[in-house]
Amino acid sequence: MADMSFKLKEGLLLGTATAGAQIEGGDTNSNWARFSAEGKIADGTSILRATGHWERWREDCELMARMGMQIYRLGIEWSRIEPKRGEFSEEALKRYREEILYLGELGIKPLVTLHHFTHPLWFEDLGGFTSKEAPDLFMRYVERVIDAIGDVAAEYITINEPNVYATNSLFYGQWPPEKRSMGALVRAFTNMTACHVRAYEYIHDRRREMGYDDTKVGFANHLRIFEPKNKKNPWHRLCARLSEWLFQGAITEAMMSGSCRFPVGRAKGVRKGKYYDFIGINYYSRSTVSGIADGVREGCFKNDLGWEIYHEGLIELARRLGDKYGAPVYVTENGTCDNTDAFRPLFIYEQLKAISESDNPIERYYHWSFVDNFEWKEGESARFGIVHVDYESGERTVKASGRLYSEIIRSGGVSEEVYRELVEPCKYHY
Ligand code: BGC
Repeated sequence: MADMSFKLKEGLLLGTATAGAQIEGGDTNSNWARFSAEGKIADGTSILRATGHWERWREDCELMARMGMQIYRLGIEWSRIEPKRGEFSEEALKRYREEILYLGELGIKPLVTLHHFTHPLWFEDLGGFTSKEAPDLFMRYVERVIDAIGDVAAEYITINEPNVYATNSLFYGQWPPEKRSMGALVRAFTNMTACHVRAYEYIHDRRREMGYDDTKVGFANHLRIFEPKNKKNPWHRLCARLSEWLFQGAITEAMMSGSCRFPVGRAKGVRKGKYYDFIGINYYSRSTVSGIADGVREGCFKNDLGWEIYHEGLIELARRLGDKYGAPVYVTENGTCDNTDAFRPLFIYEQLKAISESDNPIERYYHWSFVDNFEWKEGESARFGIVHVDYESGERTVKASGRLYSEIIRSGGVSEEVYRELVEPCKYHY
């Protein structure tokens, strides 16, 4: 019988990622709170419920610690911190500071996301990132945050997935504010580049003034593999190359190095430079391309949202970006929608095995996600957590995938025994 055990790549740190709005609940001031109230969520649920983390944060941190997590990516909410334009909530800042301090006490290293799809309604109504004022307003928020937590948090993600935000919200019209405009997409990409570059520089400068030299700043880049459906077909090849550039190539170059090319416009005040201390990759799937819209390969294993399961894609992207940008890769998100945890243990096993057995610059892996949470347009119906959430009672229960993940951290790999108990019974579906 083949040996199914593996040892974790030396030095690889493991933890999970969440976003504030997806777990906290109760914040009525964001673009997604309004979108939920308008009845736009597929299953009729609302972001206002989520998992109740705003109250349960201590319990969640303690559970993470018991599970052995070494790192944790958490989001903070602009709409809580600046509910009205120019009015900042000391209480919200204090609450985030407490959580970050507590994580530190529990031995978990925090990586703080400053923007993850949600923002205050007043900012949305100005045009969000399409507004000329966006970079200045974003920076004023960032400055307040760094003043409040800069001494206790060293590592930051400025913006989560600018491409997913801009395409879903401004080009395909599926997310708030439901726009369909190429011009809006270009303006948002351009302004988000300015926001990222300015925040990168500011956080470094400000923390240096505070006396710290361990600052790390980057952004979480949603990357996919774009594969022509038929490699011999020049149209498929062209569409794959174009989709890749428009969706992720241009924005990656702009935010990493300040080099702006269509669909990113020339961002004001942005010079060419190096605006990352790590390469943040959010990886989920591969697209099979035969035209303008993405497709999924026929006959492959898929998750419960129909996304192809393709672990090699992450390794390939890490290698590609590692070679190009010469920095450590943090997998700032990777995970899968599996509503019954029927195959997530197998997914985690295969992905971590692939990372551990191949040559790549991955240094950290943040599994998406810690708890089941509010999955944007899908609401509560799509589960990504290694910990189950009963949305009625808020009760948390560690899933088999959570047990496996803890065991991998504890023992530094997967033994034959653990494989047989937790991985072997799993099955993917088509
Ligand atoms: C986002 C998360 C989301 C996850 C699963 C990523 O694109 O950053 O907020 O829940 O994918 O869809």
